[in-house]
Amino acid sequence: MAYKKRTHTCGELGTNNNGQTVTLKGWVDTRRDHGGLIFVDLRDRHGVTQIVLNPATSQTAFDLGHEIRSEYVLEITGKVSARPDGTVNKNLATGGIEVYADELEILNRAKTPPFPLSGAADATEALRLEYRYIDLRRPEMQKNIVLRSAVVRFIREYFDSHDFLDIETPMLTKSTPEGARDFLVPSRLYPGKFFALPQSPQLFKQILMAAGFERYYQIARCFRDEDLRADRQPEFTQVDIETSFLSNEEIMEIVEELIVKVWKQFKGVEVPRPVPRMTWQEAMDRYGKDAPDTRFGLLISDVTELAKQTSFNVFTGAVNAGGTVRGIAVPGITEYSRKEMDDLTEEVKVHGAKGLAWVKIQGDGQYVSPIAKFFTPELLGQIKEKLGAQNGDTMLFLADAEKTVCAGLAHLRLVLGHRLKMIDENKFNFVWVHDFPMFEWSAEEKRWVALHHPFTSPRPEDRETLKCAPGKALALAYDIVLNGTEIGGGSIRMHDPALQQEVFGILGIGEEEARRKFGFLLQALEFGCPPHGGLALGLDRLVMILTGSQSIRDVIAFPKTQRAVDLMTDAPSEATVQQLREISLKVTGPK
Ligand code: AMO
Ligand code: AMP
Repeated sequence: MAYKKRTHTCGELGTNNNGQTVTLKGWVDTRRDHGGLIFVDLRDRHGVTQIVLNPATSQTAFDLGHEIRSEYVLEITGKVSARPDGTVNKNLATGGIEVYADELEILNRAKTPPFPLSGAADATEALRLEYRYIDLRRPEMQKNIVLRSAVVRFIREYFDSHDFLDIETPMLTKSTPEGARDFLVPSRLYPGKFFALPQSPQLFKQILMAAGFERYYQIARCFRDEDLRADRQPEFTQVDIETSFLSNEEIMEIVEELIVKVWKQFKGVEVPRPVPRMTWQEAMDRYGKDAPDTRFGLLISDVTELAKQTSFNVFTGAVNAGGTVRGIAVPGITEYSRKEMDDLTEEVKVHGAKGLAWVKIQGDGQYVSPIAKFFTPELLGQIKEKLGAQNGDTMLFLADAEKTVCAGLAHLRLVLGHRLKMIDENKFNFVWVHDFPMFEWSAEEKRWVALHHPFTSPRPEDRETLKCAPGKALALAYDIVLNGTEIGGGSIRMHDPALQQEVFGILGIGEEEARRKFGFLLQALEFGCPPHGGLALGLDRLVMILTGSQSIRDVIAFPKTQRAVDLMTDAPSEATVQQLREISLKVTGPK
């Protein structure tokens, strides 16, 4: 049959098209054989239109109609007909009409899909990823990908209108330390040498400032070989920006305005400004992590001083070892069974805690706890007050090194917040976290490591602290957090080469090593580099939250699994001997 131009999408016909002859192309969503009539729901990315195959309209089309199955690709030409009263489908945008096919052509046949599109929720994610092209046909997935495209367009327009330049930076480059392992690419021309895929465009965007571009943005691909989670992929996308001459306040302002506009445009939600701020210390103390979910309470309190006064040696032992005792007060779980308390204990053990201490406060104020005997009633009263606990609450405590206590309670807080339905899923709570420490001590490597990255500037007032107590110096860094997910982070950088060298020194990067790894940056700083700073938003995470998805895999067309493989293409895969020889590599490790 001759090629026919499509006249309409499957999502646009209505009663105003009544009587028109149209040509539609799309996939068979469903086919219902009613004996004398066959109904086909034809689907494309715009919607679904009901097609009627009626022998009275076309015997040929009707006969062919018996062959078609789900996911066949069809072309149909026919007349739009308003549906009789009572058969209008109000759930369908095109539900007021149907198209009586005069001509039907099967453009392509399809095997039975490995999972029905409507039942994809029951299919394993592995199957969905292997047959991603089918999974992506589902309206939910189409909606996510379409929205992602619209968000990107909107973001581009925003930065274009704010005088930012879109500049690409290389993929084959040198290591950019963002705290993850690099993906390496062997060089064929220089045996034994490797490119690193960028963990972010960090150094190039700084160089672009040295080059005088003032305002840069890029929708940038980043690569990090790290442990994956629901909100982490080995390759992901950043909305990356860098600016010259602006203060941290001004940069935060630009990002805030963008966020507010995106939420207004795509959610119809007014995000109140200014976005609240919280110091890193407060986030750690009250939420146990640097990405606080402020949609609900269950805030953490430190009871170390009071815990010292008990005879419970789990508490005193932790304090004597330099640790801390902290807790949360949880309403509505005094009826939890022993087993349920044990389950909570298992939750914190995953984060390295050795156990979970609990004290239930009955409605009449009586304390019920296996450890109550170690406390005087006065002391329990003081602890109750410190936690802000009420009668009917259960106090949960962790005693351990600070890091373990924070991680355990942060997790417990989230688990209970969800379990007790304390979280309003319709809320969008943004918060800026600032005043991060410059460094944290790595017990493993026995050295200071940058909390953000090694190019972040200390606060001007901390220049001296940097020298005498690096652990206490705070950075001009800021993260933007939404509902407990870090959606972006940035900082003011060091433009003074001497200061940059000093920070490298604290990080244990000697002058020689610094020159070797970051010589080009240090040099650029020496040739008149303006003060500069920026930020990067995690686009995948942003779209994940905008679409209400549970995983960033649902907003990425071709994601990797939790185990960092692409099930559709079956990557990574072996290289041939020939390929390996060309790049002078030999595989010695286990297959
Ligand atoms: P950072 O490392 O904080 O900063 O990254 C910025 C944002 O990127 C997102 N993100 C990720 N998303 C998905 N998968 C991952 N593996 C992943 N890792 C990070 C997060 C995060 O907030 N160069 C600096 C930015 C700057 O200083 O300007 C940087 O990359 O949402
Ligand atoms: P035990 O003395 O080991 O039987 O522990 C008594 C209670 O303290 C149990 O409920 C344990 O789960 C809890 N517990 C043990 N270690 C810790 C810890 N590091 N922090 C808080 N509670 C703990």
